[in-house]
Formats: sequence, structure tokens, C-alpha cells
Amino acid sequence: TTLLLLWAVIGYGLGSIPFGLLLTRMMGLGNLRDIGSGNIGTTNVLRTGSKAAAAMTLLFDGGKGAAAVLLARSLAGEDAAQLAGLAAFLGHCFPIWLGFKGGKGVATFLGLMLALAWPVGIACCATWLASAALSRISSMGALGAALSAPLWALLLNRSDIAALAALLAAIVVWRHSANIIRIRTGTEPKIGQK
Ligand code: G3P
Repeated sequence: TTLLLLWAVIGYGLGSIPFGLLLTRMMGLGNLRDIGSGNIGTTNVLRTGSKAAAAMTLLFDGGKGAAAVLLARSLAGEDAAQLAGLAAFLGHCFPIWLGFKGGKGVATFLGLMLALAWPVGIACCATWLASAALSRISSMGALGAALSAPLWALLLNRSDIAALAALLAAIVVWRHSANIIRIRTGTEPKIGQK
């Protein structure tokens, strides 16, 4: 149990690194909090106009979720891997460094799913791409990917991660409350729009 707790802390620490904020600050792209939705994720980084910064944010925010899972798995096994992944996700959404006001967890969720069970992760990424492409709305991609995750886990014979996927999906949906209201009122911006 002590060891598991350690993986929760390591996962949280990795997840809590706000790459979007750090990259945009380093690249002199302004204060993300004053841009678009004010969120620290890829979609909002794209609103700075820098595709490179957005791509790197996606890669690093996803990478930290994957890294937490792979590190915990290689040193402590599958239970630790799931816990570290969950902790990384929570770290991204609720980073202590930002007064617990972090991101919406989508990239970190995709990264950790890819590392936990790559077929499920790929299915989630494909669902993200398809629903974002069809709607031209980033949060629609996120919601589609999150909500489909537990179903993909069951369909692809990974019922062992279905509960975790459902928990992550619930938090992703909750973190998108403001987006959902904007989608319903038709005011959610399209991808790339300011
Ligand atoms: O994952 C974040 C994305 O789904 C929505 O981001 O900045 O439009 O709220 P944003």
C-alpha cells in the first residue's frame, strides 16, 4: 500500500506539470489565462496562433500520462500503472502549483489510455478525431473520446480498465461543463477560431 501511494504521488507530480502554460510562456505567446477559454490545454494553446506550441502541448500533456503509466508498470506492476495514470490525470486537472485550477484532462487521458491498453487508446484517439472533425469543435472530440472509452474497454476485452475509463470519462465531462453549455447555446467556438 505504501508503494502504491508512492506511485500516486509520482503520477500526480508528473501530471501536474502544466506544459501548455510553460511552453506558451517560454515562447513568448502571452498569458494563456487571458486567451480564449483561459484553459491550459492544447485547444487553447492553438488560440495563441502557434500550431507548434499546440502540437508540443498535446505531445507533452499526453506524454506525461503515458510516462506515469509506463514507469509505474515497469517498476511496480499493473495496479500501480492504473493508479499512476489516474493520479497523472488528476494532477493535470488539479495541479497544486496553480491553486488546483488546471486543465480538462483530455490529452493526459488519451496518453494514459494509450499506455494502459493501446487498442483502447487508439480507439479513443480515433473517436476524438472523428467527432472533432465532424463537429469542428474540439470539446465535442473530447466528450466523444471520453464517453466512448468505457465502451471501447468492454468491446476490446479490457473490462479490467472499464471502471477507470468510466471514472475518467465522468471527470472529463464535468470539466467540460462550460463547454457543454456553450455547445447547447451554439456559442462554442470551432477549432482554430479565437
Ligand atoms: O480539452 C479541452 C478542449 O476539449 C476544450 O478546450 O479551451 O475550448 O475549453 P477549450
